[in-house]
Amino acid sequence: MAKKLWGTRFGKKTNALTDKFTSSIAFDQRLAKYDILGSIAHAKMLGKQKIIPAKDCQQIVKGLNMILKDVIRGKFKFDPGAEDIHSNIQELLAKKIGEPAHKLHTARSRNDQIALDIKMYLKAEIDDLDEFICQLQKSILKLAKANSKVVIPGYTHLQIAQPVLLSHHLLSYIEGIERDRQRILDAKERIDSMPLGACAFSGTGLPIDREFVRKQLGFKTLTANSIDSVSDRDFILEVLAQLTILAVHLSRIAEDLILWSTKEFNFIDIDFSFCTGSSIMPHKKNPDILELIRGSVGKIHGDLSSVMILMKGLPSSYNRDLQMDKPPLFDAVDTVKDILEIFVALFQNIVIEKEAIAAKVQDESLFSVDIVEYLIKKGISYRKAHDIVGRMVRDCLDKGKNISSLSNGNLKKYSDKLNPDIRGVLNAWASVSRKSSIGSTNPKLVAKQLDKWGKKLQ
Ligand code: ARG
Repeated sequence: MAKKLWGTRFGKKTNALTDKFTSSIAFDQRLAKYDILGSIAHAKMLGKQKIIPAKDCQQIVKGLNMILKDVIRGKFKFDPGAEDIHSNIQELLAKKIGEPAHKLHTARSRNDQIALDIKMYLKAEIDDLDEFICQLQKSILKLAKANSKVVIPGYTHLQIAQPVLLSHHLLSYIEGIERDRQRILDAKERIDSMPLGACAFSGTGLPIDREFVRKQLGFKTLTANSIDSVSDRDFILEVLAQLTILAVHLSRIAEDLILWSTKEFNFIDIDFSFCTGSSIMPHKKNPDILELIRGSVGKIHGDLSSVMILMKGLPSSYNRDLQMDKPPLFDAVDTVKDILEIFVALFQNIVIEKEAIAAKVQDESLFSVDIVEYLIKKGISYRKAHDIVGRMVRDCLDKGKNISSLSNGNLKKYSDKLNPDIRGVLNAWASVSRKSSIGSTNPKLVAKQLDKWGKKLQ
């Protein structure tokens, strides 16, 4: 068991149960790199300000750099008995360089230290997430571009609705996750304030130079209030909320693809290498990856709820409860990264079932709005046009007929504005091409969007 950073005031040893229950080394060890980088910046500042002798400062920095190398190479052996990552590194430094190590914690507390570590960790993770999200956008775009002429039946209420370009549908995913990307990048702005120097919560009387530490660690600003510096976990809540929204989007995409891969829809085929089988039903090819992605939203939302409830009811400044913010944060970040990684690969392994889709867009109920718009363009009011088409659709369904098979005379029974050219309307490509509003599924407009995203994601 490592020596406690606070052991002297205690007349006796803590109970082993206390040590086990309070330790965070099992999960905060992943912050080692940031903890050391923060300590190096802090030590250099202490030396520059002559708060500690230059010689000691050099020794500390040298020792910390040695430990950092091991951490980066994955050779660092964490002490499972340490109270936390801060104590673990402090103890190891003392073993390496002796007495000067005991000057490192001057004008610092683990309270501002942990706030710094998490902020540094999150800034790096946000860069990763940004990259991962871009990769996913790219693989969706590739599928959209390769199938830019495919028209699928679109659905509302999961009932067949109107034809849309598959690429238009896929671009809707890119738009959604772009907002997620922007939100996550925006959170970085508020993470980018350096808390070190708040010490326990009230600051220090020693002549520290916080600006110097800020610059070395590459933060944009300094936290302005020492109490806020150690109390604040908004930035964790914010990232967790943003990851939850992203996960909801990813779940929606997964759900679409699950439906599309069924025999009933048959819009896509997912390569065997990204599916699983059944132990009892030999014919099965299951989309388990997508189901697990859909299922992960619960876990990520759970992480958000967990920290939200953790924060509720805490008084100001540091409280040990805050230690429990890390497992849910790490879980959410790891889970989202895992999902994004496999989603990129899965998109590269989707085949579009063009023939099956072409057969599905023969369904003439897809064109009811097109006929309504045809009539409106001939001067009929929207309400009347809707009634006319409603009657046609009802009769056709009752008699098991297609609108296209109605004779010219029959068409006139519904409206004298219905001419034989109406049959040209009953076609999926014609339908999407007739759309003209900005943001619609018109092929020329969608092509421009594909182009725009191609350039943006380059
Ligand atoms: N393990 C703690 C945490 O994660 C580090 C800070 C501990 N501070 C303290 N005064 N005990 O929040």
